[in-house]
Amino acid sequence: MAPKIAIVFYSMYGHIRKLAEAEKAGIEKAGGTCDMFQIPETLPKEVLAKMYAPGQPGDIPLLEDPATLEQYDAFLLGIPTRYGNFPAQWKTFWDKTGGQWMKGSYYGKMAGFFISTASLGGGQESTAIAAMSTLTHHGIIYVPLGFAKASEQMSDLAEVHGGSPWGAGTFTSGDGSRQPSAKELEIANAQGASFYETVAKYTG
Ligand SMILES: Cc1cc2nc3c(=O)[nH]c(=O)nc-3n(C[C@H](O)[C@H](O)[C@H](O)COP(=O)(O)O)c2cc1C
Repeated sequence: MAPKIAIVFYSMYGHIRKLAEAEKAGIEKAGGTCDMFQIPETLPKEVLAKMYAPGQPGDIPLLEDPATLEQYDAFLLGIPTRYGNFPAQWKTFWDKTGGQWMKGSYYGKMAGFFISTASLGGGQESTAIAAMSTLTHHGIIYVPLGFAKASEQMSDLAEVHGGSPWGAGTFTSGDGSRQPSAKELEIANAQGASFYETVAKYTG
């Protein structure tokens, strides 16, 4: 049976959402399907206004209840970096998963990451490493992107690009004006496809 995959992301300004869509296209290219969810906002409206946050789009369901993920085999998690780590919105979600942790409801499921930072050195790898602790405590198996499936794009130094063996990535610039490049979207697409193939191999 084809594996059930959820793409779960938080995106304040839309960069991670664009990577999420490229990941989804990659899963579909490889013959799979997936469902998309957004991590709910936790900041007050007044703070969001000061951050020029446009608000969460209404076309992708909010993941309010962690039990929803129990029915999936694997998750691709989209994380915009905060201080080299995942944001409070993501932490709030994980902090609601004590029941799943107690029962082992996520144990043995698989997960990968894709990440956005403002800049080079802004913490794409450190965010993935920090998030791995949460996976580890749940017994969720980390599936890295590795190099092999997007080595041409990742090793091309002719232009600035995000993404690493830890997962696809984009650079947004400090004011958010940079959008995911074609190369970064290709890496995200390759990750979607390879993630699906890996999960299918071990859950089929
Ligand atoms: C409070 C805060 C902390 C941030 N910390 C970092 C950081 O450590 N490194 C970095 O490169 N970018 C940092 N950023 C920029 C975000 O990573 C960037 O806005 C985000 O990746 C954009 O993704 P989105 O459009 O999907 O929301 C920070 C942004 C905020 C608001």
